[in-house]
Amino acid sequence: MAVSATKVVVISIFLILGMVLAGVLMQPEASLQAWDVKESSFPANESQKEKLAFLLNYAILAPSSHNSQPWKFNVTNDSILVFADESRWLQVADADKRELHISLGCALENLIMAADHFGYNSTVTYFPGEKDLAAIVRLVPASSSSADPRLFPAILSRQTNRNLYEPRAISDSDLESMKSISSDADNSIFVTSDLATKKSFQDLTTRANVIQYSDADFKSELGHWIGQGVMGPRGVQAIMAQLAVVFLDVGPEQTEKDAQLINSTPYLGFISTANNDSLSSVKAGRTLERFWLCATALGISLQPMSQALETAQIRENLSGLLPAQSSMKEVQQVFRLGYAKPAPEHSTRRPLADVMITDQ
Ligand SMILES: Cc1cc2nc3c(=O)[nH]c(=O)nc-3n(C[C@H](O)[C@H](O)[C@H](O)COP(=O)(O)O)c2cc1C
Repeated sequence: MAVSATKVVVISIFLILGMVLAGVLMQPEASLQAWDVKESSFPANESQKEKLAFLLNYAILAPSSHNSQPWKFNVTNDSILVFADESRWLQVADADKRELHISLGCALENLIMAADHFGYNSTVTYFPGEKDLAAIVRLVPASSSSADPRLFPAILSRQTNRNLYEPRAISDSDLESMKSISSDADNSIFVTSDLATKKSFQDLTTRANVIQYSDADFKSELGHWIGQGVMGPRGVQAIMAQLAVVFLDVGPEQTEKDAQLINSTPYLGFISTANNDSLSSVKAGRTLERFWLCATALGISLQPMSQALETAQIRENLSGLLPAQSSMKEVQQVFRLGYAKPAPEHSTRRPLADVMITDQ
């Protein structure tokens, strides 16, 4: 018996509604509540362990690729262990785990800024050997702070700004401030307004978009994170956006949007390292976050742009955009920098309880 076209349409509508409903019901708990953390809630009269655990409220406000928040923490009486949560690794977009490690570095930097603010000196041991353990932060009560006082408050106002940026120049002193606050021996920061560099970066981003949006696995992974409601739209809107990314050809639209974003930006920033390994990426993440916090304190917006880095055959061209004399040729992260209208709202975070490893 032939099924009529009307029946096919009705069944399809029910199937799509079913998928949307299932998607919404399966969305994990994530909210904006994490941004309401108050300094006055620091448990000054509680145990050392509870005081250290409080610092995690600031670590989890760090940026991460696709807002994947690929971290877990174990708090002891004098240390915080920072683990990679590999179940949240973007296996397609981030095959070499560069972004996972940069994200961990960003969370580590927030943690160290918060520790300094609440009276602790920190010493970091990277990759001490245990599986997935990226760093151990030993915390010792201290009588004075060593961090720039503008950075800690910026943790609460930092956000990724995907708006068009104004053509307005950033003063030399502000550019110098951002660079000197975050530069160190392990990383190089290059900020440029050179038009030819912007054009080359735009071309590389376009080529990367073409490759990524013709890859079903990439679209499926991106769709998964959009559908989790952590990358802007939430609820039903997130599932509809997921379906659009997975089933429609959104590549050309994204390419056009990225071209406009890069065209509008007065500056591009590059963080690079000498080596291409996990340790270099974690340290680059710390640098990115310190730079971003300083930019935030100065009222300057930032958006990482990773497409060209996520595509192996495109990534190798990026080092050609760095100054010829640079000895640090491994580009870890590229970002847009400039003045812009604020982003509409913060992005969501998982509840703190979900990222804490508790000893049974
Ligand atoms: C390593 C890394 C790569 C990122 N790449 C991009 C990117 O390519 N495009 C983008 O719009 N945002 C990018 N972001 C920003 C994240 O999407 C953002 O941090 C996350 O959604 C949380 O939002 P928030 O930064 O506003 O708190 C990246 C962030 C990190 C740490």
